[in-house]
Amino acid sequence: MNKLIFTLLSLSASIFAMQSGEELFIQKCTSCHSINMPKSHSTLLAPPAVGLMFHLNENFSNDEEIKEHILTFTLHPDKETAICKSVRSFGLMPSQKDNVSEKELKLIADWLVDDVYISRREYKKQKKEMFAN
Ligand code: HEC
Repeated sequence: MNKLIFTLLSLSASIFAMQSGEELFIQKCTSCHSINMPKSHSTLLAPPAVGLMFHLNENFSNDEEIKEHILTFTLHPDKETAICKSVRSFGLMPSQKDNVSEKELKLIADWLVDDVYISRREYKKQKKEMFAN
């Protein structure tokens, strides 16, 4: 009986752990978006999260606008509203509305905005290294 309760407890703990924005991003977005800059651009299917966040931070004036854009764009991608110029090379992202709920997306957007940061200098440096490989 104790064992059952323990199993149930660790099971629910892991379910709750999956609710973090980072875990949701890993689960639902990293099939295309890596988090960090990969060593080589050859395997790239979409901009890495650090690149996305660099561009969104350059283009919007505050965190709320960035979160709003992530929410709207991920559910309704649109060439006209895309900030990253890579939309031309990668093609438009398919809508993720069947993959992610609005509630999950809010957690993902919070995590991206709060925790995924790279300075301009670091972004340029890593991008150069990536394209050299
Ligand atoms: C099937 C591949 C694929 C998946 C899965 C995917 N994306 Fe994308 N995403 C792309 C591509 C390709 C681009 C770059 C072209 C563009 O902007 O549409 C992109 C661009 C973006 C952008 C940049 C928008 C802009 O203004 O330029 C955001 C934000 C984004 N994705 C968020 C997400 C989130 C959050 C998830 C997970 C819920 C996700 N994506 C899952 C392929 C994907």
